[in-house]
Amino acid sequence: MLRLTDLPRPEPGPGQVRVRLTARPINPSDLLFVQGSYGREARFTPRPDGGTRESGWAVAGFEGAGTVDTLGPGTRGPAPGTRVAVSATGTWQEHICVPGTSVIPVEHGVSTEAVCQLTVNPFTAHLLVRDLALEPGATLLLTAGASAVSRMVIHLASGRGVRCLPVVRHREQAHALTRLGARPLTAGSAGALTEAVRDTVECGQVDAVLDAVGGALGDAALRSLRPAGRFVSYGMLSGRPLSVRPDDLVFRQVSVCGFWLPARMERLDEKELGVLTGEVQEAVARGLPGLEVAERYDLADFRTALERTGRPGRAGKVLLTG
Ligand SMILES: NC(=O)c1ccc[n+]([C@@H]2O[C@H](COP(=O)([O-])OP(=O)(O)OC[C@H]3O[C@@H](n4cnc5c(N)ncnc54)[C@H](OP(=O)(O)O)[C@@H]3O)[C@@H](O)[C@H]2O)c1
Repeated sequence: MLRLTDLPRPEPGPGQVRVRLTARPINPSDLLFVQGSYGREARFTPRPDGGTRESGWAVAGFEGAGTVDTLGPGTRGPAPGTRVAVSATGTWQEHICVPGTSVIPVEHGVSTEAVCQLTVNPFTAHLLVRDLALEPGATLLLTAGASAVSRMVIHLASGRGVRCLPVVRHREQAHALTRLGARPLTAGSAGALTEAVRDTVECGQVDAVLDAVGGALGDAALRSLRPAGRFVSYGMLSGRPLSVRPDDLVFRQVSVCGFWLPARMERLDEKELGVLTGEVQEAVARGLPGLEVAERYDLADFRTALERTGRPGRAGKVLLTG
């Protein structure tokens, strides 16, 4: 259960900075975390008077934007006043204390609305495209094709000559994706998806799939792969399992794997992380598609913000401000 509460302002420990946050997106991972279904459990702070684990509190939110307002003992920087993107658990609050090394200083030209979305989806999209390493002319099917991640992937992959086929449930979402260079497929069901792929791709099969949905739609996307094609599961928007047939793995040599940003980031060394962060910052500064904002609500109005996030056909993120 989510509720709004007043807590004392936290003091930064050694090596930490305190950031005054002003914007945070509501991402699907935040909702999984609140529901207790995310890959990482909430760490509850017990109430001073004791009580059960659930009577304490944990703060939601995995990213945000703000300004450093004070440094902890021995912290070298970034200096107070620096605008930063924050990647940490608990950004749905006004102040957060995090290690000075885990905030990303940002240029003044980049809007706070873009900065608050910098650390999750742009990193995910860059790594998904890099890891797939598709050749020009290859076909890539994307479920949840109008999502922020999909729009970023389409921009990056189309730039490498990959033919992107995003699957959307609402016809209105297709126009914006066409402008990004994709060939959207409007399909609200697994059957419609299979038919749309057959009608759109010459051989009726695609080279790779990025699936954020699972369930029957994910299954249909998996079945649309060519022999030795690659399927990457990186989301669970339907809340339904995928069914993988041994025939696909054995006879058709399809490969299926999962992608999770925190685990993937752990496999980057310091130099690789520095280069990737630079690429992401530059892409965001240049106006990476997928950072559009649909609506903004004050933290105190989080219930309306969550309700608006769940509306189908949304054309951008809902932000929590203030
Ligand atoms: N694995 C990782 O490390 C990682 C990192 C970042 C993001 N992700 C995942 O990437 C996905 C997209 O995230 P995002 O922030 O880009 O999302 P987003 O911008 O909030 O958009 C969500 C999209 O999902 C679609 N959708 C929701 N439920 C669906 C369903 N049951 N069937 C088909 N489409 C559905 C919505 O379409 P409608 O408009 O039709 O409702 C909407 O276009 C999420 O699953 C998220 O968890 C994973």
